[in-house]
Amino acid sequence: MLGWRLRSPAAALAGIGLGLGIMATAVVPWVEAQTPAQREQAARKAYEEHMRRMDEAEKAAAAKPAAPPPAATPPAAASPASPPATAPKVATPAAPKPAVSQADQDAATERGLEQYRRMMKEDPWSNPALLDADRGEALWATKKGPRNVSLAETCDLGKGVGKVDGAFAELPRYFEDADRVMDAETRILWCMENFQGFDSTAFRKNPHPGGGAPVRDIGAIATYVSHKSSGMKIAPKAEHAKEKEAIALGEALFFRRQGPFDFSCATCHSESGKRIRLQPLPFLSEPKEAKAVIGEWPAYRVSSTHVMTMQHRLLDCYWQMRLHRLDFGSDVSVALSAYLYDRARDGDIAAPGLKR
Ligand code: HEC
Repeated sequence: MLGWRLRSPAAALAGIGLGLGIMATAVVPWVEAQTPAQREQAARKAYEEHMRRMDEAEKAAAAKPAAPPPAATPPAAASPASPPATAPKVATPAAPKPAVSQADQDAATERGLEQYRRMMKEDPWSNPALLDADRGEALWATKKGPRNVSLAETCDLGKGVGKVDGAFAELPRYFEDADRVMDAETRILWCMENFQGFDSTAFRKNPHPGGGAPVRDIGAIATYVSHKSSGMKIAPKAEHAKEKEAIALGEALFFRRQGPFDFSCATCHSESGKRIRLQPLPFLSEPKEAKAVIGEWPAYRVSSTHVMTMQHRLLDCYWQMRLHRLDFGSDVSVALSAYLYDRARDGDIAAPGLKR
């Protein structure tokens, strides 16, 4: 069912395969680089090259005569009168048989990612998202906005003004000055509006990057903030009444079926081993599976070659459910993430992570 998202499933597969291939080969040069500065330079170069090749692949795919529309919109999903019992069943593509089977493709992608993850462990510099974390660090410290102040000198992420270490691990949390619960991105935007004096109207209309474009400034700052809790455990306090309320609301939303397909989050995310095409669907209400994946956000997303934040991830799943657009920083978005981080409590933070 993801087919309708992709201009052509074949192009997407080629793109992912290409991306993995490039990264697997691109990793080698900077593993051997000596100083951190050399490594960073090598990583930056490989990242730029990776972006360039992805752009080329996209252009090549777009230039091809129009592929038949992805035949993945199955009758069951197309008819609102008979909603499918489970979403991923509808994923079986009726597209022309590829030379390599879907299972083989999945396995190859899985192996590629596994290899890439191993390399990243050996050399964390090989995750392109760290470049965005760097950008975020600079943005955090730079005086900006109509009031020309930095976030570092004004913004409290919960551990005190300007304190970033360990702050992400306790988010989402209740903030008295705003009298509401906020996640990292929502809080950063709030600080930009309230301290730096930014008008967020334009940003809110289009808060997330398109494929290949770098993550926006708030996402970069969130990536930096998350990275400063990397290695710690997910530990939101969940003590304040409003924090508990947010978690409860998130849980209710997670299980509530709604929209034209009558999907809930649980339709796709509450069974082990489910997948839609390439993507395994973690059983997010199950702490063990939530712990394994939630601490990796924000993450560099190979298939779109940019960092994707949790707000963006949730918006994307909302889109898959054909719900109204999930507003950046809305109570609903924060409640969903409060629920997910609560499920993933005690899981390791390994951010920014890497996702397919
Ligand atoms: C129609 C199926 C579908 C529904 C319904 C759905 N999602 Fe997803 N979700 C996906 C897919 C597919 C992915 C993996 C995407 C990828 O790997 O690019 C995903 C990934 C995620 C992830 C990241 C998991 C990881 O591996 O780190 C989170 C978190 C998430 N969804 C939350 C939600 C929430 C919350 C809802 C309800 C608001 C929801 N999803 C509803 C299909 C769905």
